[in-house]
Amino acid sequence: MIKNFKPKYIKKILVDRKEIEKRIADCAQFLNKKFKNAKEAPIIISILKGAIPFYGRLTMELNFDMVMDFIVLSSFRGGMQRTGMPQIVTDLMNDIKGRDVVIVEDVVDTARTLSILIKYLKLQKPKSITTVVLVDKADMRKVPFKPDYACFTLLGNPFLIGYGLDIKEKARNIPYLATFNKDYLDKI
Ligand code: IMP
Ligand code: MG
Repeated sequence: MIKNFKPKYIKKILVDRKEIEKRIADCAQFLNKKFKNAKEAPIIISILKGAIPFYGRLTMELNFDMVMDFIVLSSFRGGMQRTGMPQIVTDLMNDIKGRDVVIVEDVVDTARTLSILIKYLKLQKPKSITTVVLVDKADMRKVPFKPDYACFTLLGNPFLIGYGLDIKEKARNIPYLATFNKDYLDKI
């Protein structure tokens, strides 16, 4: 493996870049199959900022016409604790009425974020909503939810960083998925 950026607050590397990108390519195949006969270009929405690396890699593997769009939601603010319900900070640029929509998310944990977003998008009457996630923390739900595609499914609730996932806005550029050493929480 090429020598990577490895800050001291990394506890354990869980998945390396090669494996992540292989799973993302599989996810792209799922979408390629699903939308190969789409009449109108699906709108592929990235939830900023955590999904950016996943989204960038995924969209480069798609072989159908698509439209990029972005939405900014808040759920974790700063550290490891959630503060209140997720809110829409910046809205989409496209009208999604009658369109196939794909939501690309980094992690689904309690599923509060995605369920609020899906409820909001449904009000705009899209033709369909498909959800793909990089990591599914499958036994952490507070709201029932199953993504249409998860690159990785994980039991328990380790706090993950890297490949878009942050701790206090840092670590998003770490090119692998790792656990965070909580001893460093006040030091970064
Ligand atoms: P949910 O609403 O509980 O499903 O939270 C999902 C959001 O929380 C994700 O989009 C992430 O931004 C954030 N999140 C959940 N787990 C982690 C983690 O382990 N590391 C970093 N962010 C996380
Ligand atoms: Mg997120």
